Order: sequence, then structure tokens, then C-alpha cells
Amino acid sequence: MLSPDKLTFAANADLIGTPGSAAQLTTPALVLDLERFHANQAHMMGLCHAAGIKLRPHGKTHKCSRLAFEQLAAGAVGICCATPHEAIAFAKAGVGKLLITSPVVQPRHLRALTDLHEAGADLMIVIDRVDAIAAWETLLGNPERPLPALVDIDIGLGRTGASTLEQALAIGRRLSGSRTLAYAGVQAYSGRVQHINDYQERRRIYWAQLDRLEACLEALENAGLPAPIVSGGGTGTFAIDVERGLYTESQAGSYIFMDVEYNNVELFEGRNNPYDVSLTLRASIISTNVPGHVTLNAGFKSFATDGPLPELRGEAFAGARYELYGDEYGRLVLGPGQPAPRIGTCVELVTPHCDPTVNLHDQLHVIEGDTLVDIWRIDGRGVL
Ligand SMILES: Cc1ncc(COP(=O)(O)O)c(C=O)c1O
Repeated sequence: MLSPDKLTFAANADLIGTPGSAAQLTTPALVLDLERFHANQAHMMGLCHAAGIKLRPHGKTHKCSRLAFEQLAAGAVGICCATPHEAIAFAKAGVGKLLITSPVVQPRHLRALTDLHEAGADLMIVIDRVDAIAAWETLLGNPERPLPALVDIDIGLGRTGASTLEQALAIGRRLSGSRTLAYAGVQAYSGRVQHINDYQERRRIYWAQLDRLEACLEALENAGLPAPIVSGGGTGTFAIDVERGLYTESQAGSYIFMDVEYNNVELFEGRNNPYDVSLTLRASIISTNVPGHVTLNAGFKSFATDGPLPELRGEAFAGARYELYGDEYGRLVLGPGQPAPRIGTCVELVTPHCDPTVNLHDQLHVIEGDTLVDIWRIDGRGVL
């Protein structure tokens, strides 16, 4: 009989702290380069300080409470969460100051979040319909500690958010009269524009969307409801958000990791992107039997495939390119005359789209230089 501990496969934990262990990881392994992460985080913090705005980075990018703590320690005023489960996982780990950026409508989600709030967790929510407010109020019992809420405004994405000024005003008025919810300001996020590669083109389209936010902020102000918090924006619109000056804080998320998609976006006009890729997927060559390509152990189940293809990091296999080749497989198509790398060779790939790729993995392998220094659980992963 096999003993249960022989059946457990704690991949890579034994390598923590061993010099050179980054090269020995069992793969596929999602790897975070800690120095590059810290450099990206510090750069973003510096930009926020210089612009006089706060940073409430989006936790949907990493879904990892350990990483959220790093961001708070670096000066973030809070962490955004896209789903109730993200918020619950982060709160359970002790992360404070959580803003749930999507409307919450399902009874069990509402119950779980109001329970968390009543238990002392530091939460903030968004509201995009007047009639959503009553559902929260029936569950919230304590007027001494109202739950802060932002009016979610749709400035052009058409995903969530009040779509008219009147709707936004009605929500603001209703929140300000609530006993158990507290009007805290406004959220406005526009998704698709983030990835318009050309800076001027992105600025042109987004600027018109920001007009809607400005009109809304004015209307709220005139109604006696100035917005203490104006939260939104992402990595792609950061420079434009700063130039326009409407937001009190940025919700940027992807700047910590970067990916193939964002590497193609001109984040700041006429400049190289200041953020380096800190997140990669390490895969291994498992077959070399066919001339012209070698097979890797990372495919659809290792990468989110909504974006471009994964790209090779560095110059190690210059001339080759990665192609998806099945659920568990990819292949490196070799350049003309390029010798095939040996079986077992480790290949480092930049993820196409960081957020949904992280969601496929249980853990982040944290490296410093060539050494695995820790493994962080992606405790907010999942879709709930
Ligand atoms: C509401 C909201 N805010 C902020 C972000 C972060 O954007 P980015 O990852 O482009 O920085 C997202 C990403 O989808 C989002 O949905």
C-alpha cells in the first residue's frame, strides 16, 4: 500500500533557498521575478506621487494575497478586487482596504460580503443601479459603521456602470441618504481602450470618454455630492488619466507583471515602456523527434489564449518562435538550420495576457536572481 505522503507532489517547495534553484524548477511553473516586480511597483508609486494621485492597484491581475501585501507595503492605499471570492480570499489572509469593482447581485455573495463587513473587514463596494441599494441595506445592520460605496459610472465600455447622468445622480442621492451605506465617490473604468497600442489614438478615444466622467463629477458636485474618491483607469490609460486630472486614484493592475499584449502598447508617448516583464512561464522541452521543431510541456492549460501568442523571453532561442500545440503542449518552431535544444531544456515565455494566465495556476514561484526564494499561493484564483 502506498502511504499518502508518497502520493503528495509538492512541486518545487524543496528548492526554496537553494542557490541556482530557479533553473531546476519542475515545470510548467509560473515564475515571478521579485526584483523586477519591485522595480515596476516602485516606478508606478513614483509616478503616482509625482502626479499627486493615489494607487489602488487591481488585485485581479495577481489574485495573490501575498502580492497584495507587497503593494500595500509599497504605498498603495488599498487593493481592488474583481470578484467576491477575490475579496473574501484577500480578507481571510488579512489584506485590508478592499474595493470590489464589480456590481454584486447574487444573494450568497451579498451575504458573504456583508458578513465580512460586519466582522470588521475593510471593504468598499460599487453600485450601478438604484434598486441594488436595498439588497445591501436589508443585510447591513449597523449604522455606526456604514459600508462605503462608489457610484459606478459607464464612460463608454458598456459593461457595468450607470449609463446616464440621471442614473448616476439618483444613485449618489440614494447612497447619501442611506443609514448603512455611505456615499464615498465615483468609479469609472474603461477596459478596451487600455490596449489601443498607439498612444495618440488611445488618447483621442479615451479623452472623449473622460468628458462623460467630467460631466458626471460636475453634476454630482452641483447636487451637493462632490466625490471624495474618483477611482479608475488602468496601466494603458495611466498617463492620460494623469494628464486629464479627474481621478484621485488609479486602479492600474498589469504594470506589475506586463505581458505580450501590454508590451505592444505605447504606454507613454514616444518613450519605451518603463515596466519590465516580471511574470514568465517556464516550460521544458519534452520531445525533439521531429526536425524543425521541439515540443514543450506548456499549451492551452498553461496560458490564457485570448491574446497574442506567448513570446520567448531573452535571446536564448533567438530565431525560434512558440506556437500553441495542444492542451498540455506547445512547440518551438526552429529557425532555418537552428540546432534543436536538448530534452529537458527550460524555456522562459512571456505570457500573452497576464491576468487570465495567472488564474490558471495555483502558485507563483518567486525568484531572486537565479534562486527560488518562495512560493506564493494564488489564493484568489477561480471565477466566483
Ligand atoms: C475595473 C478595473 N480596474 C482596473 C483594471 C486594471 O487594468 P490594467 O490591468 O489594464 O492595468 C481592470 C482590468 O481589467 C479593471 O477591470
